[in-house]
Amino acid sequence: MDKKVINDKFTEIFGEQAEATFFSPGRINLIGEHTDYNGGHVFPCAISLGTYGAARKREDNKLRFYSANFEDLGIIETSLDDLKYDKKDNWVNYAKGMIYFLKETGHDVDKGMDIFIEGNIPNGSGLSSSASLEMLIGVIAQELFNLDIDRVDLVKLGMETENKFIGVNSGIMDQFAVGMGKQNQAILLDTNTLEYSYAPVDMGNNVIVIMNTNKRRELADSKYNERRSECETAVGELQAKLDINTLGELDAQTFDEYAYLIEDENRLKRARHAVWENQRTMQAQAALEEGDLEKFGRLVNASHVSLEHDYEVTGIELDTLAHTAWKQEGVLGARMTGAGFGGCGIAIVDKDKVEAFKENVGKVYTEKIGYAPAFYIAEIADGTKVL
Ligand code: GLA
Repeated sequence: MDKKVINDKFTEIFGEQAEATFFSPGRINLIGEHTDYNGGHVFPCAISLGTYGAARKREDNKLRFYSANFEDLGIIETSLDDLKYDKKDNWVNYAKGMIYFLKETGHDVDKGMDIFIEGNIPNGSGLSSSASLEMLIGVIAQELFNLDIDRVDLVKLGMETENKFIGVNSGIMDQFAVGMGKQNQAILLDTNTLEYSYAPVDMGNNVIVIMNTNKRRELADSKYNERRSECETAVGELQAKLDINTLGELDAQTFDEYAYLIEDENRLKRARHAVWENQRTMQAQAALEEGDLEKFGRLVNASHVSLEHDYEVTGIELDTLAHTAWKQEGVLGARMTGAGFGGCGIAIVDKDKVEAFKENVGKVYTEKIGYAPAFYIAEIADGTKVL
């Protein structure tokens, strides 16, 4: 979307010129799923689907918001004195949360704002529209009030908004990918230490195709929290013999030797996924660096198998996409991405085979599931920024 279009829409709604225009991406995760709250590695990148914003400072303490994606809601108005979660404020709660935590941590947001947003991340697709919004609001406030805040600290406030304001117990991957993304680079992040490095995503003659199940991930939040607590319980059992705080601290061999301490089959499977997925993520980053795309693809497949059978967070829609993708010509690897239970998958596909890929996978999926999936070519973009 064009900067001028966003600014014009701002003026149309608020009657004044915006001071600045912004873009905040969504994200895909190449590999390293359900490892971020287990102290493991993740390997996400920011994408060019995201949320645009335009904003200006006000002279009073009113906060006024308008989203072109929720036109029916009109302008939602609140104020700096009322930064509490309120169901009726809908998406604006993410914005209130960010501003609340900025103020809480001593940043001087002392005037109101008018904020216009418009996003093109498909609704409920698991490409992190909420992290995109949180980081957008954080960077808007930083820019308008000249706040001295480190980007990683802003990322942490995004996670805090999600955990403590919205009440979703997610890890740090989404906000980190959105806030720290770089064009054509993936981020290898150790969620235990927050050490990170960038890795060029050179897929050779291949592209990353995002496959949207078009199934909203409704049940996701309760299952998500269940997986988290299963892993925590497994850590507790392993602590009988091992001095660890998270599953991410274990290599596969050590895990194997002490797995007998876990007394329940489901917990064993969940923990095994967390440990092995962390190892796979580091191996995948190394394979990509060496240009061994075949190996990278096999690890991507292995990630899906483990998420399907051990972590059990895929479901028929994502499985149909991944399994069908594996059978297509020119596919190096495919798996679900994000929390699972619907949402999106990714596939690494030969550029010249993409059209046939979309047609074949689309056909099989539609026959089996009853409605069509959607496909987009992922463009790896910069993190949240002023345009
Ligand atoms: C969601 C959460 C992330 C991460 C993924 C699974 O996207 O928000 O923190 O846990 O699921 O890898």
